[in-house]
Amino acid sequence: MDQKNVLQILNRALQIEYASAIQYLQHSFLVQGIERRVYSDFFRGHSEGSMKQAHQLGEHIVSLGGVPTVEPYLIKQSTDLKEMLQLDLELEQTALQVYQEGIKACADHATLKFFFEKQAYDEYEHFAEVEKLLEQKKMSLTEREIQMKKVKSA
Ligand SMILES: [Fe+2]
Ligand SMILES: [Fe+2]
Repeated sequence: MDQKNVLQILNRALQIEYASAIQYLQHSFLVQGIERRVYSDFFRGHSEGSMKQAHQLGEHIVSLGGVPTVEPYLIKQSTDLKEMLQLDLELEQTALQVYQEGIKACADHATLKFFFEKQAYDEYEHFAEVEKLLEQKKMSLTEREIQMKKVKSA
């Protein structure tokens, strides 16, 4: 394992999680209208989740002899719900990519590889959820595709 490379990846992931924590929190503040009832808590929950990931990253960085960054990655703002979700989707994808890089960089370090795999899996779930909220995975279900089992009459 190239320790310097892994430290760079961990610090890039930390930047992304800081940005994610702030961006989701900002979206929880800015969301208005009837959707606010659902989305404010949704955004806040994701913000807290990102902060928890930041805690783990910072601890791993120090364990490897590095210094955790205090600079977040680019934060994007919007007041439009759909645009907020689009921006969050982009950030989830960026996070997924950095954790996938971490998996490759730690191929010979079982525990750190497991850590990156777990983070990647979580980001994959977040990405897939936001994709559905944006209706990007809407299926076209026709009547013909539904096969109903006939109930036998007694
Ligand atoms: Fe995250
Ligand atoms: Fe995420």
